[in-house]
Amino acid sequence: MKWVYVEDIGQYLGQEVEIRGWVYNKRSSGKVRFLLIRDGTGIIQGTIFSPDKDFPLFKVFDELTQESSVIVRGRVREDRRAPGGYELEIKDVEVIQIAQDYPIAPKEHSVAFLMEHRHLWLRSQKQHAILQIRAETIRAIRDFFDGRGFRLMDTPILTPSACEGTTTLFETTYFDQKAYLSQSGQLYNEATAAAFGKVYCFGPTFRAEKSKTRRHLIEFWMVEPEVAFATLDDIIELGQDLIMFILERVLERRKQDFEIIERDTAPLERISKPFPRVTYDEAVKILKEKGSDIVYGDDFGAPEETLLSEIYDKPVCVTHFPAKIKAFYMQPDPERPDLALGVDFLASEGYGEIIGGGQRIHDLQLLEQRIKEFNLPREAYEWYIDLRRYGTFPHSGFGLGLERTVAWLCKLPHIRETIPFPRLLYKIYP
Ligand code: 4AD
Ligand code: MG
Repeated sequence: MKWVYVEDIGQYLGQEVEIRGWVYNKRSSGKVRFLLIRDGTGIIQGTIFSPDKDFPLFKVFDELTQESSVIVRGRVREDRRAPGGYELEIKDVEVIQIAQDYPIAPKEHSVAFLMEHRHLWLRSQKQHAILQIRAETIRAIRDFFDGRGFRLMDTPILTPSACEGTTTLFETTYFDQKAYLSQSGQLYNEATAAAFGKVYCFGPTFRAEKSKTRRHLIEFWMVEPEVAFATLDDIIELGQDLIMFILERVLERRKQDFEIIERDTAPLERISKPFPRVTYDEAVKILKEKGSDIVYGDDFGAPEETLLSEIYDKPVCVTHFPAKIKAFYMQPDPERPDLALGVDFLASEGYGEIIGGGQRIHDLQLLEQRIKEFNLPREAYEWYIDLRRYGTFPHSGFGLGLERTVAWLCKLPHIRETIPFPRLLYKIYP
């Protein structure tokens, strides 16, 4: 008999097939037993019918518990009342294992309990839907960049230098040297951009953030395009196009998953280009009018970002931050050198920053000066400085945080459910 997946079941109408999976739930009603089987691609309802109460399959049914692993065989039938529209008339159930006392019963559990059981929690419908949306987002990102002639460059995870400030570095040893887990692939992609023009990297990044917020992970995935000869405006355009591409793709392909998590997608469907743009100066003014006690020159924290992103019904681009609060590599505004040609995209519905990027310094002397000002060990950056020695080029790029984006798309209260195994402050189990 043919082993098929629930998501393809419609192709097998009227045929006898085999489903391999786990018992999600069961119930009986008179002469019928209902078995919900999940196989990773979906959930299908199987029915066992007999007028005989001693029917042998009923005995097997009675022993089945939540998450028992089974192979069920039966005929595929259309049934509009059944979840998913199809049903399996079960002819045979082969038990692989009867699961004992599955800890996550269909009732309310605390988040702490669920996080301790993350390895099992992943099986529940809502977590499954969120991670389907994550996987679709990843696929959309790759298709977007591959389709626009960007080359994928895998940047190293073990590095000798910092990209995003030294306070959140994860230190490790590299034989007889010190090394750090990568905070960003950007610096390396500035080198690959000179070799390939348009590049992107997409991988895990690490920040030893001591902040316990609903937006911070210790290990998160970031996609980072870098474009030779692009300006701040070019990269803002690219960021908008990327976000629009992701939105259109996931809304089209993951409708059912959004329904499972009860996400009202109307606010996402309404988003269109162009996104509003404000400078840091304007943003501070707006924030003050809204009652914030932000001090000019300070970086925005979560409260400021939330306040700003609630004003607009689409993502908003904040540009021209004070250079002092931004990374060492940011190109200064030629008219106001105290400002950096950087951009943060704040997602709508209060979600805050999902993209950070901008134009990079391409002047040799200025970069050398910044490395000194930021007290960075020059030896570790010698190769990076070389890029300004041999055919320097204006260039820009950004990083989009995958988990922040998925949290926004799914409208989740916390980022922890957007990655299979979140790494959180002081928490590394499971
Ligand atoms: O703004 P960030 O720090 O920018 C960079 O790392 C640049 N080097 C990127 C570049 O220009 N190539 O981080 C970029 C994005 C943020 O906007 C946010 O979405 C995400 O990465 N991010 C985090 N996501 C989850 N947990 C954290 N601790 C994050 N820190 C940053
Ligand atoms: Mg940032």
